[in-house]
Order: sequence, then C-alpha cells, then structure tokens
Amino acid sequence: MGYETLIVEVEDHVGVIQLNRPDALNALNQQLLGELSDALDAMQQNDKVRCIVLTGSEKAFAAGADIKEMSDKSFVDMFSTDYFTHETESVLRCRKPIIAAVSGYCLGGGCELAMMCDFILCSDTAKFGQPEINLGVVAGIGGTQRLTRFVGKSKSMEMHLTGRFMDAEEAERSGLVSRILPVKKLMEETMATAAKIAEKSALTSMAVKEAVNRSYETTLREGVLFERRLFHSLFATEDQSEGMAAFTEKRAPKFRGK
Ligand code: CAA
Repeated sequence: MGYETLIVEVEDHVGVIQLNRPDALNALNQQLLGELSDALDAMQQNDKVRCIVLTGSEKAFAAGADIKEMSDKSFVDMFSTDYFTHETESVLRCRKPIIAAVSGYCLGGGCELAMMCDFILCSDTAKFGQPEINLGVVAGIGGTQRLTRFVGKSKSMEMHLTGRFMDAEEAERSGLVSRILPVKKLMEETMATAAKIAEKSALTSMAVKEAVNRSYETTLREGVLFERRLFHSLFATEDQSEGMAAFTEKRAPKFRGK
C-alpha cells in the first residue's frame, strides 16, 4: 500500500516506519495516524518482520498532535469520535517489538507515541516534552500516565505543569530512554539493535514483551506468576530445545519461531 505521510520499508527482518510530514515537523494528524495503524497491522501480519523501528527525521520524531487540525474542534467532536483512541491502538496491539528511534523534537503526542513503543533509543539532539499546557489542554495519548511511570511523579508533574523540554542526557538519566547515540549514528545503531532482536526467537520476543508490559498492569505477585507460567510454557516450543541444545553444543542457535 502507498502511504503519503510515511516511508515504509522492510530490510532483512526489520520493518522500518518513518514518519514523513517534514513541513509540519511530523505532527500527528488523522491521516498519519491512520496510515501508521495500517502499516503496523501490516507488519504484524508479515512473517518476515521480526522487529519494527519507528522513527522520524533528524529534526523531529514528531512535534505532537496536529494542533491546526484540532484547533476548531468542539468537545462533542472530540468525545463522539473518541479522538486518538482507535488511531493509537495499533501500537498497543502490535505483538512484535517496536523500537522508537528519536531525534530532535519529541513533544506532546510525539513523546506519547515514542513511550508506547517498547523502548526508546535517542540521538544526542533529542528533546522531549509534554507542552500541552501551553495550548490550554492536557496530554491526550497517555502522557500523564506513561511519563510518570518512566520518570516518577516529581519530574513528570514538572514537565506537564511547565511544558519545558528535557534534553537527551536528562532523558537517559531519568529512565525515559535506554541509550543516547550520536545523531549521525542513530539509525545505524538502531538497525543493528533491531537486527540483534530479529535473530532471537520471535515467539520468545512476544513472551518478553507480554511479561514486561504486564508489570505495568498488575501486582508484583501476579506479574511474577504470569512470568513463571510463560517461562514454563516456552518449554513446549522447538525454540527452547534449539536454544538450550545450541548452548550445550557451543554453536549459534537457529530459531524458527516454533
Ligand atoms: N501541529 C501542527 N503543526 C505544527 C506542530 C504541531 N504540533 N508543530 C510544528 N508545526 C508546524 C508549524 O506550524 C510550522 O508550520 P508553518 O511553517 O506552516 O508555519 C512548521 O511545523 C515548523 O514549525 P516551527 O516554525 O514552529 O519550527 P520551530 O523550529 O520554530 O519550532 C517547535 C519547533 C518548538 C517544535 C514548535 O513548532 C512547537 O512548539 N510546536 C508545537 C509543540 C506542541 O505544542 N506539541 C503538543 C501538541 S498537542 C498534543 O500533542 C496533544 C496530545 O497529547 C495528544
């Protein structure tokens, strides 16, 4: 399918989705979110894809939801269409690992989109923020909830109340991103990380994703039980036999996702 607001490619076993509205710093309008939803669903269906990279441009991952598209809407418009709900569910629905590769502005809905991915790698030029308060609104794609879980209440509250931006160093220090990379190396290093993930068992990656995400949704005791049962159930897979046999035989495993 042809997209107007995305550039989509599959390279070996890695699917790359690049947000592509350069004139609007990749602001998330309905068209872009609809296309993103289609692209993610297609990658979920594509057996060749084992890891997904979501990225923007060097200047902006995304500068937020499209303010111009929203500015004239009423409460009834927003509520009756459940604005942002269906458009963003594909990210949560996707069972394959998604890495956000962030450079430049990553603000508002852009920051929220990056936080919905499984982890964030950022360039040394990245700037994160939830500046919705400057527009007289609050975050609407989970920013108050997810940023708080990443960086704690104090910093999240300050970010949302002041609308200030956080640089890459602060984002790494506070646990929002997993690693900072030189801007010119961001895609190369992200693709290498994605390729490493794609070598693993796709079944086990899905299990990891479900188990880690469960830690946000349940008590420690229930979460550990969920993890333990997943661990047990992976002993029903060929990939477990292969992974453990390969270790014993001192060779690289050949995972088949079975
Ligand atoms: N929506 C629509 N258009 C946007 C946009 C956005 N979020 N962010 C930038 N643009 C557009 C600008 O209007 C401008 O377009 P024109 O050339 O047609 O005027 C173009 O992108 C380039 O932007 P700037 O000229 O402003 O670039 P800059 O380098 O001077 O500033 C910036 C960059 C600081 C990111 C500034 O663009 C900015 O503050 N953007 C808005 C950030 C923001 O408030 N994000 C939150 C949006 S609301 C939201 O996301 C709600 C939610 O949680 C779901």
